[in-house]
Amino acid sequence: MTSKEIRKSFLDFFSSKNHQIVPSAPMVIKGDPTLMFTNAGMNQFKNIILGNDPVRWPRVADSQKCLRVSGKHNDLEEVGHDTYHHTMFEMLGNWSFGDYFKQEAISLAWQFLTQVMGLDKDRLYVTIFEGVESEGLEADEEASNYWKQHISADRILNGNKHDNFWEMGDSGPCGPCSEIHIDLRPNSERQQIDGRTLVNKDNPLVIEIWNLVFMQYNRKADGTLEPLPQKVIDTGMGFERLCMAVQGKTSNYDTDVFQPLITFIGQVCNCKYGTNTQLDVAMRVVADHIRTIAFAITDGQLPSNAKAGYVIRRILRRAVRYGYTFMQQKQAFMYKVIPALIENMGEAYPELVKQQQLITKVIKDEEESFFKTLDTGIHLLDNIINKAKSNNTTEISGVDAFVLYDTYGFPLDLTELILKENNLTLNYDDFNTEMQKQKERARNATSITTGDWITITQTQTTTTFVGYDNLECECRILRYRSVTQKGKTLYQVVLNKTPFYAEMGGQVGDTGQLISAENCFDVLDTKKENNLPIHILATLPEHITLPFTAKVNKQRRLAIQANHTATHLLHSALREILGNHVEQKGSFVSPSALRFDFSHYEKLTQEQIFNIEHTVNKFIRNNITLQEHRNIPIKQAQDMGAIALFGEKYGEEVRVVKYGQSIELCGGTHAPATGNIGLFKIVSESSIASGIRRIEAVTAEQAEIMVNNIQRMTITIREMFNNVPNIVTALTKTINDNKDLHKQIEQFMVEKSHSMCKNLIKQAEDINGVSVVRHTSNESPDIFKNMISMLKDKFWDVKFILVVGTQHNEKPNLIVYLSEPMVNAGYNAGTIVRQAAKFIQGGGGGSAAFATAGGKYINGLDEAIDKAIELATT
Ligand code: SER
Repeated sequence: MTSKEIRKSFLDFFSSKNHQIVPSAPMVIKGDPTLMFTNAGMNQFKNIILGNDPVRWPRVADSQKCLRVSGKHNDLEEVGHDTYHHTMFEMLGNWSFGDYFKQEAISLAWQFLTQVMGLDKDRLYVTIFEGVESEGLEADEEASNYWKQHISADRILNGNKHDNFWEMGDSGPCGPCSEIHIDLRPNSERQQIDGRTLVNKDNPLVIEIWNLVFMQYNRKADGTLEPLPQKVIDTGMGFERLCMAVQGKTSNYDTDVFQPLITFIGQVCNCKYGTNTQLDVAMRVVADHIRTIAFAITDGQLPSNAKAGYVIRRILRRAVRYGYTFMQQKQAFMYKVIPALIENMGEAYPELVKQQQLITKVIKDEEESFFKTLDTGIHLLDNIINKAKSNNTTEISGVDAFVLYDTYGFPLDLTELILKENNLTLNYDDFNTEMQKQKERARNATSITTGDWITITQTQTTTTFVGYDNLECECRILRYRSVTQKGKTLYQVVLNKTPFYAEMGGQVGDTGQLISAENCFDVLDTKKENNLPIHILATLPEHITLPFTAKVNKQRRLAIQANHTATHLLHSALREILGNHVEQKGSFVSPSALRFDFSHYEKLTQEQIFNIEHTVNKFIRNNITLQEHRNIPIKQAQDMGAIALFGEKYGEEVRVVKYGQSIELCGGTHAPATGNIGLFKIVSESSIASGIRRIEAVTAEQAEIMVNNIQRMTITIREMFNNVPNIVTALTKTINDNKDLHKQIEQFMVEKSHSMCKNLIKQAEDINGVSVVRHTSNESPDIFKNMISMLKDKFWDVKFILVVGTQHNEKPNLIVYLSEPMVNAGYNAGTIVRQAAKFIQGGGGGSAAFATAGGKYINGLDEAIDKAIELATT
């Protein structure tokens, strides 16, 4: 079976067992502070499991793109070194929300593996949870008994909490689990060592393929467990591992999921898989990581310096580093592998095909900049190595190695490798101390203490949002909790009903007030967590059970919605004017401005910017009324031509926001008609990443303020020019006049310095056979530079010196000129000026014939001149 057939059989099998097949959610998670990336198939159902969202289908199955590179589930360091871990992988899963539980989950899994996939029963083992007394958790006898209906008792093994109690993160839904393991070793080996002794022992051929989780608890922030509202089955099977088992391979990388990629990498990098252990590791790393990076970019997560973007950057750098060290790649190479990735996965994931140009450009640029980092690091490390060698030490400082790693992003293992080649080591104690300090700093900056939810009423768990139609409503508090960061405590409050829009889709959250009969509490912000709007308050109402009026700050909301609607119009104008390759890559909508990031490959011209502004303003003047379709099937929305964004998770039912030709899937709040926006002005256009441009713009009152400021500036400039009719002509004339004047001044200075020079020469007196001119002046020192050529001609065969002290702009300066015979006699103006300048507390230098020095101490000028003359005449 090909991998495509295997994926399809899984979905077909569960569909035939009455499961709804749903699409994979995006791999990059938005709106959940506890998770950056989808790390399990169950993530997209977390709200259902917690009881925040209604159960739409009691039975569901899917194939989910997952990433395990941060937080509780992090496989990054394993990837490449073994044959069965990945950063990104596909997880096949089936779920039951309050429908079947352990018995049927076990039976379905067994049927699929042994009957549909035809795996050999003799190669399968299962594990069950052995219980933990301290937490009051009993052994899972129930699961064990159901397994006995399918498999002999000696193949059912006990597992500890680490392996057989599944938790998504430090808090959240969890429960005991039962894993299915397969023994893929050749028969000869199986006869020698019993497979059951190798389960969970890191043998690459005796591995877990499917995890059946029996979710029944919610882990609270304080670590205790509470029962979930309803029991849930959550299963996850490693697709790549299943392919290995079904296709009779001994490595995931030998299946048709990875082989085309590996072969192509070999062609691009001129190397062959299977010829050298280190090379194989490197090729596996590249094959694995290129998938992750490409999928992250299509999900809208570009490599960057912070959070999820930084994780992606580190993954890319890890692959480049392996390519650099073990595949002899000294310049960008990963981007060249994209065509093979698209060939292999483009059909199942069309977003790859659509965004090929962007993915390629981003990866290439990112690789090139990392190669620069490597160059800088190697150069710095060379200096460190030379220093160590000249100091006759065999160990470089751990602090130096840490600076390379932390400040310059130079990988530690590369430092180690280069040191080894030079017979050097590094001081790991110091390195680790620095690393510890750094971690401490990071922890202090981010540490947040979140209290458990305190439930006020059990009767309702979800919030009704009325904010599309009302800015005020009566409400009650459902639950609240405290959040403390950097010594400051705020309260998060969930209401039964709210007009407050919670930050989402780039639109900032509403602010306003919660008003009771007794008091009034400011709502500082509204954010969404697990699909619930959370109102953030500085003070918690004393009488929490009272009714409240929730009231949104109206002026602020109107400004926000004008900006949000303008963002849609801008998006439409960009596609109309620049082309349909323009795709939204980020958006931020606040009351004061809007920011829109989009894919486009060159800087916009000023004419294009005017044209875009004009198109948006035309939309505004046409005063098009909002046509809003709430809760329509996604298919219908797409048929209407609504633009969906890659990397966004849309439900079955969506909201469409339409103003004429601008049709978008959007949950934000909008102006009732485009006329409310008043005016749209672009403030700036710039590049924020390779292939991504950013427009910042203002609307309504802010646009008026911007236009007024520009007008005010023009009025002031006009007034400075006595209100001449054509200000541009007047300014051009002034600039040209200025240039002419500069030229004239330069000419005048030359003439002036020549006539001064003549006068100075007349004052020359003889000291020890040297003709000496001593002069003090308030002129700029520059004027004396112009004298050099004249003095050179006049005194070509005479011993002559000129020593000038100037006091220009309150600063002392010393100038020394020596004629050629003086220089030939061994005198040096530079040396003289440096010594003499000590009297004016300054320094300087120049050539042997002409040197200048500036100083701080004006009263020392006479002594400095005397010193210079003394040095030149003795
Ligand atoms: N959530 C479980 C896992 O990730 C089963 O899907 O292993």
